[in-house]
Amino acid sequence: MTMAEATKTINLGIVGAGGMGRTHSAAAASLGGKARVAGVVDANRSAADTLAGETGATAFENAADMIASLEGELDAVVLCTPPSVREDVVSAALGSGIAVLVEKPLAETREHAQRLVDLADAFPDVVTASAYCHRFTPAVREMMERTSAGDIGRVVRWENVFACSIPDMGGKWMSDPDVSGGGSLIDTGCHSLDLFQYMQGGLEPVAAVFDRKWSGRGESGATSLVRSPNTGVAGVIMNGWLEPARFLVTLVGEEGILIYDYEQPETLFRTSVAGEKTTIAVETHDVRFARQMEAFVDAVAGGPRDENLATFADGLAVARAVEALAGSAR
Ligand SMILES: NC(=O)c1ccc[n+]([C@@H]2O[C@H](COP(=O)([O-])OP(=O)(O)OC[C@H]3O[C@@H](n4cnc5c(N)ncnc54)[C@H](O)[C@@H]3O)[C@@H](O)[C@H]2O)c1
Repeated sequence: MTMAEATKTINLGIVGAGGMGRTHSAAAASLGGKARVAGVVDANRSAADTLAGETGATAFENAADMIASLEGELDAVVLCTPPSVREDVVSAALGSGIAVLVEKPLAETREHAQRLVDLADAFPDVVTASAYCHRFTPAVREMMERTSAGDIGRVVRWENVFACSIPDMGGKWMSDPDVSGGGSLIDTGCHSLDLFQYMQGGLEPVAAVFDRKWSGRGESGATSLVRSPNTGVAGVIMNGWLEPARFLVTLVGEEGILIYDYEQPETLFRTSVAGEKTTIAVETHDVRFARQMEAFVDAVAGGPRDENLATFADGLAVARAVEALAGSAR
């Protein structure tokens, strides 16, 4: 990276000023001047106005207006809308040479995800990334380093639970298949599936069993089995919206087990095969959004791409797995 590139402030356009628009704006603001929010778009004008007011940005009702008005100024767009409305924004941004970071899941269907990959392939010089933030959880990196170094011996299983209790989820867009693509598997389990492919180097869906609470809506819970074509390791993934909260990543080896519990954010737990329990201090997972944003804006500024930043192709691999798992659950 040249000095000029290193000191440039990346101007971001946030599209979708809801929960994640806010999270990414805060992540950008934490980077000490590396990035700023220049524009905010939301179909709901008052949401755009509010976030724009808080960040010192200009509010717009649609992305095309923002891209046209901030021509020459905007470096990147961060897409934080529901998944079904990605393509027009990605196409307009890439066509104007503007980088794109797309929140998970990449899209609500495999077909839509494929079209986004085709767009990214058509503009190879413009940075594109899928926002799979758990790759930037420090404990995840620690688990990967420890297993590579043989800390728990040969890995025999990867386990994950991302589950919580949101009783009214059946009335939210996240469970509307036309908007989100399904239910708990695509909405929450997409994080799990990406984390598996990231930690185990590949993702092959085997089968899933769904729990269905609401008629006409996506599944309220999903239990999935996947396999790594790279290591042969099995992944057991549990996602649900109607159960007590658990956020756990577990690696089981012949010599020991590593467990990260997101509710004990600064501790990684290790149990040896003899039953000896030890703890390892780690940085909190709270840093994951800022670390992901930093990797993205550094790439947009012309620096080398952080290999941990998920690609659109990674997002498509997750979309393919979701489609196959959902098919098996029917
Ligand atoms: N990485 C994570 O941990 C994480 C957590 C939650 C959500 N997400 C993802 O982030 C995305 C946004 O989720 P959220 O929780 O912020 O949702 P949200 O409902 O809080 O916000 C979405 C916003 O998008 C706006 N919107 C809808 N359609 C639009 C359009 N066509 N143009 C412009 N704005 C539009 C809505 O008005 C709303 O303000 C989703 O893809 C979701 O799956 C990621």
